[in-house]
Amino acid sequence: MNPQTDRAAWLLGGDVRCNTEPAKPVRPRRLVLLGPPGVGKGTQAALLCAAYGACPLSTGDIFRHALAGCAGEPHTKAMESALDHMHRGELVPDRTVLELVGERGRCLSCRGGFILDGFPRTVAQAEALDHLLYVHKVTLDAVISYETRPESLAIRIAGRRTCPSCKAVYHLEAKPPRQAGVCDHCGTALVQRTDDRPEASMVRLKVYEKSTAPLIAYYREKGQLISITATGTPEEIFGKTVAIMKKKLGPA
Ligand code: AP5
Repeated sequence: MNPQTDRAAWLLGGDVRCNTEPAKPVRPRRLVLLGPPGVGKGTQAALLCAAYGACPLSTGDIFRHALAGCAGEPHTKAMESALDHMHRGELVPDRTVLELVGERGRCLSCRGGFILDGFPRTVAQAEALDHLLYVHKVTLDAVISYETRPESLAIRIAGRRTCPSCKAVYHLEAKPPRQAGVCDHCGTALVQRTDDRPEASMVRLKVYEKSTAPLIAYYREKGQLISITATGTPEEIFGKTVAIMKKKLGPA
């Protein structure tokens, strides 16, 4: 995660502000990460944000933050329903997602830049993002689509453990915490996501093919798509991503 900000504005929404303003990079990066569940978007978002000084904006983290009771208020009916969809592995309805992202729209003009992870996920959400970017007078630098073999996805999802507090992501084999079951950063007990259970993760993979994969064509037609094969270690994939971005956009 970006150590420069606590992401309170994104995680909580409303009038909440982040405790610290990120430093302004010379050239803020504004990226969307696409790819199937478990491909490593969140892992790459954390590495890219640390490198670019940008803020990781994950819609999944908004829901998990609410689920962990961190929002401090009882869930609204819309959030209760969103969490039910998430547990089953289904997409949360566009209307709810667009309301949540819309009320956090100013995060898109954050001076540090942003890495969107998990949004947009449908063509309707992509069109809404185009409008939000226009309203906030910013443009996307690129949309990165990570791709790998389906067998790898199942292994990555089954071994994932997450920190409910700081949202750090681990893997039992590929990226174990220093002390088993405990977050390296904040000492909180790690958990397995309910939607990582086999029945929910199967649904998520199917939903991705039906609803989210069409976004690849959407962004290819706009000339914004960069496809990257997500094989190798997270650091190798990060290195590939940074090299491609540098070639396309120049140094950050
Ligand atoms: P979200 O949180 O966005 O989940 P997702 O897209 O399914 O993606 P994941 O978080 O499962 O995977 P990832 O690609 O980030 O992989 P990670 O880096 O963790 O959404 C969750 C749910 O919220 C949705 O199903 C939906 O219900 C709802 N939702 C969210 N946004 C929505 C929207 N816009 N519209 C509607 N509904 C929405 O890596 C996975 C594991 O692999 C980790 O353990 C990691 O350590 C490991 N790993 C990473 N890279 C490697 C590597 N190179 N080699 C080996 N292991 C690796």
